[in-house]
Amino acid sequence: MTNISELEVCVFDAYGTLFDVNSAAESCKEDIGSNWEEFAMLWRDKQLQYSWLRTLMGEYIAFWQVTQDALDYALKTFNIDDKRIRSNLLEVYFILKSYPEVRATLEKLKNHGIRSVILSNGSEDMLEAAIENSGIIDLLHGVYSVDSVQVFKPHPKAYELPQVKLGFISEKMYFFSSNAWDACGAQNFGFQTYWINRFNHEQENLPGNKLYQIPDLSAVPGLLGI
Ligand code: LAC
Repeated sequence: MTNISELEVCVFDAYGTLFDVNSAAESCKEDIGSNWEEFAMLWRDKQLQYSWLRTLMGEYIAFWQVTQDALDYALKTFNIDDKRIRSNLLEVYFILKSYPEVRATLEKLKNHGIRSVILSNGSEDMLEAAIENSGIIDLLHGVYSVDSVQVFKPHPKAYELPQVKLGFISEKMYFFSSNAWDACGAQNFGFQTYWINRFNHEQENLPGNKLYQIPDLSAVPGLLGI
């Protein structure tokens, strides 16, 4: 039997939402060159494509491996053949730091009895490392990696994880992602969803209603009336 709870739960995507995905390439910009932002974009795009394609192919592999495969594609494309640059990029990516407003937002939610959990395509090891490096472990009620279902978001099985792990469903379970495709997937699954439009992107043309947008996570407490 499904438990119905009155508890408020904020479900956060990790990469791009809590953790700054471009900071790894930025930290190696001297090595990559002036087009480091295009490099970062290609790395991220390939990482996402590979995750979706692998889900469709029934070939799940941990996101950390997907991240490395995508990096190798980007390095080749930019004619960078240097093991030191590769390992520096991966070292930083493994322990990505959170965006500046993350800690204060999570603190405010926790002080008001609202539970914050992460639902991410990231593998358990990389999530653990980034959470530790960002010093936010004490503010999280749960960290759910799709490793446990072996499909990547936006597969509905991935979005089921918070209710499965928490053991209850709540009408007050909110989903936050800076990835518009992820926000569409979450909304399509049934979450009340907010798109953190950090990069000022256009709305996606995917199923569902127009996404409600906020610029960064500092707006979250206000949305919840705290
Ligand atoms: C995440 C990536 C895909 O799930 O942003 O954390």
